[in-house]
Amino acid sequence: MLQTDDFLEIDDLTPAELDHVLDRAVAIRSGDEEARLPDQTLGMIFEKPSTRTRASFETGMTDLGGHAMFLGPDDLQLGHGEPLRDTARVLGNYVDGLMARLFDHEDLEVIAEYADCPVINGLTDDAHPCQTLADLLTIHERFDCDDVEVAWVGDGNNVGQSFVVGAAMAGIDVTVATPPEYAMDESVFERAADFGADPDVTTDPEAAVAGADVVYTDVWISMGQEEQREEKLAAFEGFQLNEDLLGGTDAKVMHCLPAHRGEEITNDVLESDRAIAWQQAENRLHAQKALLVELME
Ligand code: CP
Ligand code: NVA
Repeated sequence: MLQTDDFLEIDDLTPAELDHVLDRAVAIRSGDEEARLPDQTLGMIFEKPSTRTRASFETGMTDLGGHAMFLGPDDLQLGHGEPLRDTARVLGNYVDGLMARLFDHEDLEVIAEYADCPVINGLTDDAHPCQTLADLLTIHERFDCDDVEVAWVGDGNNVGQSFVVGAAMAGIDVTVATPPEYAMDESVFERAADFGADPDVTTDPEAAVAGADVVYTDVWISMGQEEQREEKLAAFEGFQLNEDLLGGTDAKVMHCLPAHRGEEITNDVLESDRAIAWQQAENRLHAQKALLVELME
């Protein structure tokens, strides 16, 4: 049982609750715990496309004995002008939980305010905390969290911002390398500091990967930023994860996926033994099943 009703940001959990969710994910995955949400329905609102988030939540609900309802951008009256708060009020009275993937994080807060059920962030422009759960589970499975160095190299985006706060909660040392104009929001470092962390921040990707056990990246052009493509591609020169950058290290490579091979990462690196992105993607399922039972059972 969590103190929070909703999961909009990774630090809606306490560090102890985060540990507990990850432990529960391990137990569910191994079969030591048979978690169930019989006859419960998760509504899933998507303003943006998804492979992993949609498929892992839907499979997860089926595994738990419940049901997931996909509500895409063309399926709801929302797309025809019905206010979000009305949608949230109505859906919240049908379903046992709502997961939403939206552009504007404030819209997610509106859903959480008006829906009378737990609300889960399936990605906004600012945050992707479900991804962070899977990321931390992956690091926890492979490393000692007290003795691992992770470098975030690339855009200071939603995935990176949630990861930096989650890593701080888990006691993981992080270095962040972004171009100056695509830095993370200052509030991310303030939230990390609340958990005693002081991430190193640089604009030099080579400095960031030196000594890293794990190098984590994500796309440079996130969903909704297509018009910024040319200026972002120019700004991220030198930030690609390739063997030139990584060659002097034996670092593992994380990527939340989908990857844009040839932009933020080369095909060779993503297909090499360095890449643990596939384990991250699988862990979405296990981590979210633990989250669902914690919020909804
Ligand atoms: N990592 C992630 O959230 O992937 P999708 O966009 O496919 O859901
Ligand atoms: N930063 C990416 C993550 C996709 C899972 C985006 O927002 O498009």
